[in-house]
Amino acid sequence: MILYFSGTGNSRYAAQAIQSVTGDELVCLNELIKNNSVDALHSDKPFVFVAPTYAWRMPRVVSAFIESRQFTGSGKAYIVLTCGSDTGNSVQYAKIACEEKGFDFFGLASVVMPENYIAMFKTPEKTKADKIVARALPHLLNIAEHIKKEQPLPSEKVMFVDKLKSNVVNNRFYKSVSAKGFYTTTACNGCGKCAELCSLNNINITDSKPQWGNDCTHCMACICGCPMEAIEYKHKTQGKHRYFNTEVPPSNH
Ligand SMILES: Cc1cc2nc3c(=O)[nH]c(=O)nc-3n(C[C@H](O)[C@H](O)[C@H](O)COP(=O)(O)O)c2cc1C
Ligand code: SF4
Ligand code: SF4
Repeated sequence: MILYFSGTGNSRYAAQAIQSVTGDELVCLNELIKNNSVDALHSDKPFVFVAPTYAWRMPRVVSAFIESRQFTGSGKAYIVLTCGSDTGNSVQYAKIACEEKGFDFFGLASVVMPENYIAMFKTPEKTKADKIVARALPHLLNIAEHIKKEQPLPSEKVMFVDKLKSNVVNNRFYKSVSAKGFYTTTACNGCGKCAELCSLNNINITDSKPQWGNDCTHCMACICGCPMEAIEYKHKTQGKHRYFNTEVPPSNH
């Protein structure tokens, strides 16, 4: 079973690419989290968690999901993290999260995909993004072959600086994450798509305008998925390209 969480489509794409090789069942964690589903998940094939990297670790919303749900069937777990550049020492924390749940940890793979953190950085335009995704595809298919054969993933190099990023910087990041900086411009037409896209149900539409609450994980789905590009974050996002991956991986490779 491949379970994916995705803010702006990269990890969904990665999960679909893996699924095109393994043929495993694909489950969208955004939906399960949004609907507060607490059902046990059963799979006779390994559990494969696919997610973006947030501050050099698996998103807390995903590790909390793994911690709180019951998994039956296969005892093997893989973690695949998409990222803009690197996943730091996320492997250490992914291993702990899986082993605390009783899984045999079969490794973590990092996959460089287009940067989506528009509240901090520039995101790539379509031509550049397409090239990055095209480079990622063979890597994803190779990861999928390991998963299909139920082999451990090759280990990735971790440097001392990675340990700092995934520990100290990750903790600092989560202290500062908040939806407080989001606001809408006059382009907002009250369509409600941002509220639909928010897996944490952190957006309410009141008098045809979105209002953000306090439960935000900075996934960037609302700001990048707004069809009117009517959402801004502080003074950081004006004039920036909104990145949202809607591509589907080729099935005949
Ligand atoms: C809150 C946040 C934190 C991020 N932190 C990292 C990071 O530590 N390292 C990195 O390489 N990319 C980082 N990124 C980039 C994303 O991990 C990357 O673009 C990912 O593919 C997005 O996946 P998605 O489209 O499935 O949401 C971050 C993005 C966000 C929104
Ligand atoms: S998705 Fe955009 S246009 Fe629609 S309600 Fe949200 S901010 Fe307004
Ligand atoms: S409010 Fe926006 S950025 Fe925050 S979790 Fe919801 S969709 Fe993601």
